[in-house]
Amino acid sequence: MGRTVRDIDISQLGMLFRFYEALGFDRLAVDIPEKTVSNGGDCLHKEEGFKREIEVSRPRTEESLHKQEGLKRLRAEIGDCRRCRLSEGRTNLVFGEGNPDAGLMFVGEAPGEQEDRQGRPFVGRAGELLTRLIEKMGFDREEVYIANTVKCRPPDNRNPLEDEIKTCMPFLEKQIAIIEPVVIMTLGSVATKALLGDIGSISRVRGKTYRYKGIPVVPTFHPSYLLRNVKSKWLTWNDAQVVLKLLES
Ligand code: URA
Ligand code: URA
Repeated sequence: MGRTVRDIDISQLGMLFRFYEALGFDRLAVDIPEKTVSNGGDCLHKEEGFKREIEVSRPRTEESLHKQEGLKRLRAEIGDCRRCRLSEGRTNLVFGEGNPDAGLMFVGEAPGEQEDRQGRPFVGRAGELLTRLIEKMGFDREEVYIANTVKCRPPDNRNPLEDEIKTCMPFLEKQIAIIEPVVIMTLGSVATKALLGDIGSISRVRGKTYRYKGIPVVPTFHPSYLLRNVKSKWLTWNDAQVVLKLLES
């Protein structure tokens, strides 16, 4: 049995894919000659990311050494923090990690179980998805900077409370001031609200550009939300395009 090959107007493809998506498809088999494909179907699945020409890491200079030193000093200032109740249940404080010179900074909510255990941000299941997003954007995880709104794991992964966020915010603010990213992508409503105030639900504000102390901020869904709502991944991929444009300009 032969296959029918049909030309489809490229402008209709988006509609076609959304139709399949609405039917619940997460992946589609598409027969395209290899040489014409640079980037696979579902944007956040495990595949080779394509390398971009955008610089997210700026050249190492004296300034970058200053930034590295600044972050070290900030970590020392936080110390064995007991400023809020979250310290009682934590195993490790999760300061954040990445390139002090990053042009792109991600801000999450709070460490989860894996992060608390390892002392590193976004290393659990949500972290895997974030890492894939970063790679799909054409970057290595080490090239960007990843931090959280609060640095200690809330019990049972509950949302951090207002007073906990308020106590921890100066540290995120200082991280941002040291790194001076070109763009910040906030992941989920907690980080978005912490930096931008109460601007509306994440589904209404995602993909738009706001400003925090002059720095463009693009909110998107939290990766944990995307793990539960796979169909929203393409929206986050759209939001990532907004970030890439801002990095380019
Ligand atoms: N979720 C977050 O918000 N931050 C992490 O570091 C891990 C999961
Ligand atoms: N609610 C959130 O807090 N974050 C999301 O990403 C989606 C819904």
